[in-house]
Amino acid sequence: MSELPKTVPATWYTSDKFIEAAKHKIYNKGWHFVSIVNAFSMHPELNDGLKEALQLDFVGNPFFGLCNVDDPYAVKSLNLRYGVYKDIVEGCTSDEEKAARIEKLEPVNHVVTEGGLVFITHERTPSQSLEDYFGNELGQFINDKDFRSRTLRRRLVYECDYNFLTFIDGYQECLHCQYTHPAFSKVYPFEFYKVDIHTNFCRHHCNPVGEQDDAGLFLYFFPSCTLNQYGGGMGIFRANPVNGNKTRMEFEYFFDGSDEEFEAYFKFARQVALEDIWLCEAAQQNLISGVYQQGLLHPKKEVGVVYYQSLVRERIMA
Ligand SMILES: [Fe+2]
Repeated sequence: MSELPKTVPATWYTSDKFIEAAKHKIYNKGWHFVSIVNAFSMHPELNDGLKEALQLDFVGNPFFGLCNVDDPYAVKSLNLRYGVYKDIVEGCTSDEEKAARIEKLEPVNHVVTEGGLVFITHERTPSQSLEDYFGNELGQFINDKDFRSRTLRRRLVYECDYNFLTFIDGYQECLHCQYTHPAFSKVYPFEFYKVDIHTNFCRHHCNPVGEQDDAGLFLYFFPSCTLNQYGGGMGIFRANPVNGNKTRMEFEYFFDGSDEEFEAYFKFARQVALEDIWLCEAAQQNLISGVYQQGLLHPKKEVGVVYYQSLVRERIMA
């Protein structure tokens, strides 16, 4: 039994100090997946208060991207700047004044990949290129794909009462799927669910019952952002730490099809998300009560958990 991989200490799951350490040692270093370039398009139809700029903040290092993309296929880079957009443009009386204020802000180092994925790094002079950071292993999954073909249809932001580790532990395995996600498991049976580990990211895959052309593609980017293609649509989430017991969840749903088709996909995806909230908030309550100390992980069935926790441990202890 002693040879089985162990989880990170239970105290990390409820600790504000752990989040502070994660800010400096995990989130402010390396490359981070943000979204699809289409998330920075002009969205007059989205009524979420984010028409002019998409405000981002993994933890304690706010930045924003202007939503001024006209043609996502023509975009090679974005206007990403450090700061809180609404504070920066407060009191502005003209677009010229806004632009002048934004122009003075420090830009965020970022890359827009050929397929339209957006990655950023908070390192002023990146110690590694994006390709090297992902061990030159990411291209095989993203290079031949067009992520720009679907438009952003809905964005959701809300806070949940769990540590980001509690949530990612669940995302990185599908042992819980059968009993937590009955509808999802009917379409994507957990027996065919596999997690492959790569350098600083993981690829999850699963074959749906029947239609083989709708195989799910799930990319997990260390530490807490993902890109999920399944059920005919594409969703991304950013699980941003707020404190030891709180995480701000940001979802963007991309879809190509009628409103009716989108709503069906959205309902399917949201059901899975809601089931995960119930599971993770209940798990967090147990963590807070102090019942759990440290657990053992299954080296194969929880390989994704073992891997990302090893990265967390490595960075935090460095
Ligand atoms: Fe889940």
